Amino acid sequence: MAAKGILVGGGTGFVGKRLGELLVSKGFNVTNISRMPAAKNISWTHLDEHGIPAGTVGVVNCAGQQFMDFTKAWTPGFKQNILNSRVRTTQTLSNAINKSVNKPQVFVLITGVGAYEPSDHKKYDESSPTTGNDFFSKLLVEWEKAAQVSPPTRLVIIRSGAVLGRDGGMIKNMFLPFFFGVGGPIGNGQQYLPWIHLDDLVRLIHFAIENPDVKGILNGVAPQVIRNIDFTKAFARALSRPAIIPVPETILNIALNPERAMIMTKGQHVTPKRVLDYGFKYKYDNIDAACKSVAHLFPQKQPFTDM
Ligand SMILES: NC(=O)c1ccc[n+]([C@@H]2O[C@H](COP(=O)([O-])OP(=O)(O)OC[C@H]3O[C@@H](n4cnc5c(N)ncnc54)[C@H](OP(=O)(O)O)[C@@H]3O)[C@@H](O)[C@H]2O)c1
Repeated sequence: MAAKGILVGGGTGFVGKRLGELLVSKGFNVTNISRMPAAKNISWTHLDEHGIPAGTVGVVNCAGQQFMDFTKAWTPGFKQNILNSRVRTTQTLSNAINKSVNKPQVFVLITGVGAYEPSDHKKYDESSPTTGNDFFSKLLVEWEKAAQVSPPTRLVIIRSGAVLGRDGGMIKNMFLPFFFGVGGPIGNGQQYLPWIHLDDLVRLIHFAIENPDVKGILNGVAPQVIRNIDFTKAFARALSRPAIIPVPETILNIALNPERAMIMTKGQHVTPKRVLDYGFKYKYDNIDAACKSVAHLFPQKQPFTDM
């Protein structure tokens, strides 16, 4: 019997690559949609012209220009690229799904907890409104709106926290300063830091693909709510280094633009109520274990045997 196909937008990235490894280990046949040609890739134009490949049972979108690409200034053009790379890819996928004759069972979109307006006192779960007025809250509304697909395809939107993995995201950016003992909290470190380990995020995507009951919004965050200072201490402990030199908020605002810097300087209290209600079991439910698994100078991949 032919392997069941999963189509992954942005499957070449930090999350997409690890997801592909997990899905292949579970017997799926993974095709990436990418701007770069490669053996297992198709292009966005190919998707638009030829539709969803035959045998596709699930579609996942992990595509999106990185917010924290420090080589790029925070210009209107870059912001447009951030928006287009998410909204247009999502729209292209939902159009292709809606037009397909043999519809995939599920469409999983990875967005972010930026959907919830940063706050020191509000507490968010999946039923909370997304009414923020900052750039990221507004982007998230447009991004998720582009994902409308009709039954029988289930729509699952995973609002991810900061993804902790050695090869990308926050850890990759912070690794060397922490490794050399010059890391520290951002500002006063009191802002919430919703987080999830990379392996739990890809396990949650797989869980959403395999379980026909799962649909709607899921907060892709660990159940343990922490602040930036808790992460700083846990990561420093995992590396056996001090982390006492704070990064002043004003420096980040000047270097990155306050609109972009808010990803680090502000945060939200987010819990994964629906994820837990569905019975998903986290492999990394506390920040110490998660930090230990990524605190290696040379990245070490966990096998998928226990996933
Ligand atoms: N990493 C995190 O901590 C985190 C947290 C919350 C949410 N997320 C979301 O999760 C998704 C995946 O994140 P990631 O960390 O895996 O990102 P990543 O490593 O930067 O990968 C994203 C992928 O998106 C594609 N892409 C980039 N710019 C594009 C553009 N202009 N048009 C079309 N495709 C483009 C790239 O694929 P090609 O180069 O092959 O085209 C790339 O492999 C993103 O949407 C991100 O916002 C990530």
